[in-house]
Amino acid sequence: MTYSNIIVTTENRITTIKINREKALNALNEKTINELSECVKNLSKDADTKVVVITGVGQKSFIAGADITMFEGKAPTSIREIILKLQETLNKLEDLSIPVIASINGYCLGGGLELAMACDLRIASEKAIVGQPEIKLGLIPGAGGTQRLSRLVGAGRAKEMIFLGGNVDAKTAKSFGLINWVVSAEDLEEETLKIATRLTKGPSFALNMAKEAINRGPEMSLLDAIRMEAELFALCFSHEDVKEGVEAFLKKQKPNFK
Ligand code: CAA
Repeated sequence: MTYSNIIVTTENRITTIKINREKALNALNEKTINELSECVKNLSKDADTKVVVITGVGQKSFIAGADITMFEGKAPTSIREIILKLQETLNKLEDLSIPVIASINGYCLGGGLELAMACDLRIASEKAIVGQPEIKLGLIPGAGGTQRLSRLVGAGRAKEMIFLGGNVDAKTAKSFGLINWVVSAEDLEEETLKIATRLTKGPSFALNMAKEAINRGPEMSLLDAIRMEAELFALCFSHEDVKEGVEAFLKKQKPNFK
């Protein structure tokens, strides 16, 4: 599939996906959702990529939400199909075994924030604006926002953001625990690359196990979840990276993970 609404590039084992609808502030229309879906499906089989970065084209917007024009005159059944496709794509993105970073270069609203929350880490430009404004359209978030936002920031804060539909700046979003790092707009690309590069040099098997434990844990009781952690901890010993990491520590050297 050739893409036109997303731009996908791979360099030094980092695959970058840029949402490419600058005139519509990178809003997610059906074509963009389909292209993203295909791209994520391909990434799940791509052994060369070690880290994924998602960002938006231009200076103004990461993703300003679902494309509102596609809601006009649609029956609930067609809307259901579109939103399930977007949900399925974000679930697959969240389930990729490798780290995924949202590099938030501007407006990150509605479906845009929902996509960012399906990523593992979020770095934002200090100019970024974050929110779930769907209520202003007479809607609720539909691509995981009610669930992922409350898990990330707590039910009280999620209700505040979703009920009132107010947007917050990047620093406020960071204080909520919604964003990991805030940097200047000029530094965003470089700082994102630094984090991505550091992750490519990390032990990919252990990163995968850590992601699995953190993502699956909330579906279980605490006892079951920490038991799963023990199993995944033990599983790390089936990989040569542990030998490398432990030996390097004992020899006071830097590890060179495969
Ligand atoms: N869908 C479709 N088009 C959009 C859009 C969206 N979500 N957001 C912006 N655009 C379009 C505008 O219509 C405008 O197009 P034209 O030039 O053809 O008029 C263009 O992008 C530029 O936008 P503005 O002129 O509005 O730019 P601004 O700087 O004045 O405002 C903004 C920026 C505050 C982000 C404003 O555009 C806005 O509020 N956008 C809508 C945000 C929103 O409500 N998102 C949630 C969508 S619903 C959703 O996401 C459901 C879900 O859970 C999946």
